[in-house]
Amino acid sequence: MEKMRQLNDIEPEMFCCESFRVWGDNWLVLAAGDFEQKKFNAMTVGWGFFGTMWAAPAVTIMVRPQRYTLEFLQEYDTFTLSAFPAAYRGALAEIGKVSGREVPDKLDRAGLTPVAARRVAAPAFREAELVIECRQAYRDAMAGKNFLDKSLVGRMYPERDFHVMIIGEVLHISGTADYLKL
Ligand SMILES: Cc1cc2nc3c(=O)[nH]c(=O)nc-3n(C[C@H](O)[C@H](O)[C@H](O)COP(=O)(O)O)c2cc1C
Repeated sequence: MEKMRQLNDIEPEMFCCESFRVWGDNWLVLAAGDFEQKKFNAMTVGWGFFGTMWAAPAVTIMVRPQRYTLEFLQEYDTFTLSAFPAAYRGALAEIGKVSGREVPDKLDRAGLTPVAARRVAAPAFREAELVIECRQAYRDAMAGKNFLDKSLVGRMYPERDFHVMIIGEVLHISGTADYLKL
């Protein structure tokens, strides 16, 4: 079985990154499902947060209702977020464009190798430089009536496909030394 590349275990309090760059420029891959059962899917994400919730390390992801990956998030309780070296930017653009619903081998085609994560059923990736393993704690769809900035509704949701917001408790982080606070 393929293994995750040798990454350091990182305690959440020692985890360090340029959060805006990682989400906004580098992007992350969100994977959900069960690696052992060979039932999983993944997609690129660029909108989300790292932080603290309910006195524990947490991440928030935002997933539109039409994403195939959302079906796995509804069926399985864990997910991973992975970052990749710059060489994989094209791969992330690809799996952020193609849906696993229509192209079941999209990860393979993009050159990403799913592997078992350390603590959760959702897969990690052999090529990743950072893997954050999470368990879903809260999931709910945004509602148009709750937007205080109404311009966002027209600009971001012309089809009223409001994001499903998922808060996940961080269970494990592994990464290269770049993600470790000195
Ligand atoms: C850079 C980038 C960032 C993205 N960020 C998000 C995101 O945060 N939430 C989301 O729902 N879709 C996002 N997408 C779109 C999904 O990755 C895309 O629709 C993908 O094909 C869904 O795959 P799936 O249907 O197999 O789940 C992003 C795409 C790209 C290229």
